[in-house]
Amino acid sequence: MSLSVDIYNKNMPKHIAIIMDGNGRWAQKRFMPRAVGHRAGVKSVRNTVEYCANNSVEVVTLFAFSSENWRRPVAEVDLLMSLFMSSLQREINRLDAKNVRLRFIGDRTAFSDKLQQKMIEAELQTQSNTRLTLIIAVNYGGRWDLCQATQKVIDKMAVGAIEKQEITEQLISDHLSTAGLPEPDLFIRTGGEQRVSNFMLWQLAYTEMYFTSILWPDFDQRSLDEAVKSFKSRQRRFGHTSEQVLNQSVTL
Ligand code: IPE
Ligand code: IPE
Ligand code: MG
Repeated sequence: MSLSVDIYNKNMPKHIAIIMDGNGRWAQKRFMPRAVGHRAGVKSVRNTVEYCANNSVEVVTLFAFSSENWRRPVAEVDLLMSLFMSSLQREINRLDAKNVRLRFIGDRTAFSDKLQQKMIEAELQTQSNTRLTLIIAVNYGGRWDLCQATQKVIDKMAVGAIEKQEITEQLISDHLSTAGLPEPDLFIRTGGEQRVSNFMLWQLAYTEMYFTSILWPDFDQRSLDEAVKSFKSRQRRFGHTSEQVLNQSVTL
């Protein structure tokens, strides 16, 4: 399904990063346990992937579990882990058939061996797919990402592979978990909260932000298209003036 009027997909965001929020409230509004909302959210993931694959988006990152979500009740954390495992098992062949490359970012060491193994297998199975890169952020935190990048850089400095003067913004980007991928052009948060909640802190420096009160299980392709339309209507300036951008006297 292609809802955008822009038939050439000009100015499409290359990378969309989404905080999928509001599952719990979606269920509670229906007097159902929060788990029902998490299960209902899987459909929105499928819709999002389909929209992105059909509209020439190169990368979509979905925030599935934050480093802070361990603070939730054990039963909810366990439910989220088993939902993650079962969705992975169920969806991997479908994603592969759609030519989608799957990757995970976040600290995997906290997960069970079985889940870590499934994650590696899913990445290997889809590694040469080219239509869309789907990144699932699990046990991810923007601060964690900066810490692990710093540790890698310091390890290289310790063996003399990097000099202090070589620490540039590019070098740091190259050691983040998103190394080699374009930075998000469009950030979407569903569920009504207007905060970043420790998602991609470095990578969002110049991302266009879009907040909607739609709860994640209700977020369909039309809702995503609204967000993309909003993105397309904006002028990105990256520090330049509006006139410079209009005159095309600068390359963005
Ligand atoms: C987002 O929905 C899913 C995860 C954080 C795993 P929530 O579970 O945060 O839903 P609300 O915000 O309580 O409604
Ligand atoms: C952010 O949602 C994390 C994910 C969607 C995975 P939360 O619902 O955990 O965020 P806060 O705690 O309300 O900021
Ligand atoms: Mg929430």
